[in-house]
Amino acid sequence: MFGSGRGTLLLELVDDVAWATAARHANGHAVTVTVEHMIFKNPTWAGDVVTAFAQVEGTGRTSMDIGVYVTAQRGASERVPVAEAHLVFVAVDSEGNPRTVPGVYPETEAEYAAARAVEIRREHRKTLRGALEQAR
Ligand SMILES: CC(C)(COP(=O)(O)OP(=O)(O)OC[C@H]1O[C@@H](n2cnc3c(N)ncnc32)[C@H](O)[C@@H]1OP(=O)(O)O)[C@@H](O)C(=O)NCCC(=O)NCCS
Repeated sequence: MFGSGRGTLLLELVDDVAWATAARHANGHAVTVTVEHMIFKNPTWAGDVVTAFAQVEGTGRTSMDIGVYVTAQRGASERVPVAEAHLVFVAVDSEGNPRTVPGVYPETEAEYAAARAVEIRREHRKTLRGALEQAR
């Protein structure tokens, strides 16, 4: 299926890896609220070694902004970025109600940059929601 031009398998991989990262951070179950800003950067082909890396890049009270970065390696060639996605998960209790999550505290320059990007995405989400409500 990889290389078919359809992103289904990569979408599933992204959601799985993001879920595992969110659940580990939240120390329990978490659910996907939104998959936003998914970009396919390069095609993948059968035989590629596909690797996904995810991290919690920001948190709210109960929500977590997760960045997922997918690369592929073909034979001995260099690893190339194939997809990037940004998702929001919410930690939930056994009844499915939101529960609070620990914060994340950036230390490296890359982590500060990711945290700034989360702030931009959160602002953008709020503006978009307001604009869509006005358009109704
Ligand atoms: C996620 C869920 C528990 C949130 O319930 P809710 O009643 O909207 O809860 P709240 O309004 O208290 O919002 C909880 C958090 O979600 C965030 N949130 C809700 N809708 C959002 C959206 N569309 N985009 C981004 N964040 C969102 C809120 O900002 C809040 O974050 P914060 O606590 O960090 O400020 C509920 O919507 C749900 O169960 N959705 C289905 C999730 C699911 O089944 N996913 C798998 C799909 S197969």
